[in-house]
Amino acid sequence: MLSYAGIANPHALGAYSVEQNARLLQRYRYIHERLLRTAAGHLPARENWDLKAALGKHLYEDAEAADLLRQRIAELRTSPAALSREPDAALGLLMDELLHARSDLELTVGIYAVIKPALLAAYRQHMAVTQQIVDQPTIRILRGIALDLEEQIAWGGEMIGELERLSAGNGELVLFKEQLNSIMAAAGGIAGLGKKPPQLPGRIRSQQPYVLPVRSVRDPRRMGPTTLARTGVAQPPDDPVRRSLLEKMRVRQEEMTAAELIAAVLYSQQHMPWAFYKDLARHLWDEVRHALFGQAALECEGEDWMSRPQYTSDYDVNAAKIPGAQYAWLSIGIEEGAMKRPGKAGEYEFCRDVAKHPLMAQFQDYDWADEVVHAGLGRKWSPELIGEDIGFVRELAAQELEHFWEQVRTAQRQWSEDASAC
Ligand SMILES: [Fe+2]
Ligand SMILES: [Fe+2]
Repeated sequence: MLSYAGIANPHALGAYSVEQNARLLQRYRYIHERLLRTAAGHLPARENWDLKAALGKHLYEDAEAADLLRQRIAELRTSPAALSREPDAALGLLMDELLHARSDLELTVGIYAVIKPALLAAYRQHMAVTQQIVDQPTIRILRGIALDLEEQIAWGGEMIGELERLSAGNGELVLFKEQLNSIMAAAGGIAGLGKKPPQLPGRIRSQQPYVLPVRSVRDPRRMGPTTLARTGVAQPPDDPVRRSLLEKMRVRQEEMTAAELIAAVLYSQQHMPWAFYKDLARHLWDEVRHALFGQAALECEGEDWMSRPQYTSDYDVNAAKIPGAQYAWLSIGIEEGAMKRPGKAGEYEFCRDVAKHPLMAQFQDYDWADEVVHAGLGRKWSPELIGEDIGFVRELAAQELEHFWEQVRTAQRQWSEDASAC
């Protein structure tokens, strides 16, 4: 169609006024923000490696969705103050109960078989019934988010099948899913347009607060035990170049522990500006991507990385610290520190010029670019988290690093002694 810039159905009256539209988008925004926080809270606690990776990707996509919705809401005569509000007590309860999923399967069902399909249906409905000219900016945003949701739901469906094969039948799962659906119905559905019963449902599991795990979890049935030592590959080659290359691949694969530390910061630190959560969602997903760099490189070399002991120091050693100290340790201590040569530049040049491994060189090239961004995020947010200037934060990070290396060195010594005794 040439007229109306190709916009179909231009004459029909839309279903929503500006005020009604803003109210709907507030609900969508709220759910994406709570999904982000839920995934962050669960990342260190979930067993399945593929689930961890997908939580990292999808929480980043949820943050991007929430960010676009925030911008659109502000265009609909809505005060920015409304962007920090919970739009509906029943939606709040729904997300509180989802946070209390007790297994990989419960969480996967809650996100990918309950909440996200309902979101997708609400967006399809919104795009169909809103006035097509007046609300084109919203339609464009929802279309992009719907594409992500379709991919996420398809992935989730496959993961549910896999987790069901791995675990025995679970009556609690059925009940958990029913409870989420009934709370969603009490909220009038995602959009709140359904008929609401006159009473609000009560709390079930969320009477207790959700607590992050003290140590991060790996699937004990399919993965090696967690460890504070770096254990490399099963049979380190004699050639020092090849040995160092494989060690680098392993260190990348072990970056899931950095993602889990950021997850703890993102989950625990409340009352920061929205930009902080958006930045940390990206930072977290980047660290998951780095772990996937390592996974892909090791698998290309035929290395069985999964049955090796799994390094979890970044999360485990720092678990008891407050979020500001955790973030300063990683972003200033480790990431800003890696900007000094040889650092990240040296890793890339080694893979390109010495090991001459094109795939790993490409991974390190992008890893270096990401780390430049992360050091910048550290300088932006660590002072704000701690309430001190960057000079103070650097001193604090140096002390945190010293404490960290002490523990890792001890574990490393123990590992070497045990290995030579075998
Ligand atoms: Fe990284
Ligand atoms: Fe990083």
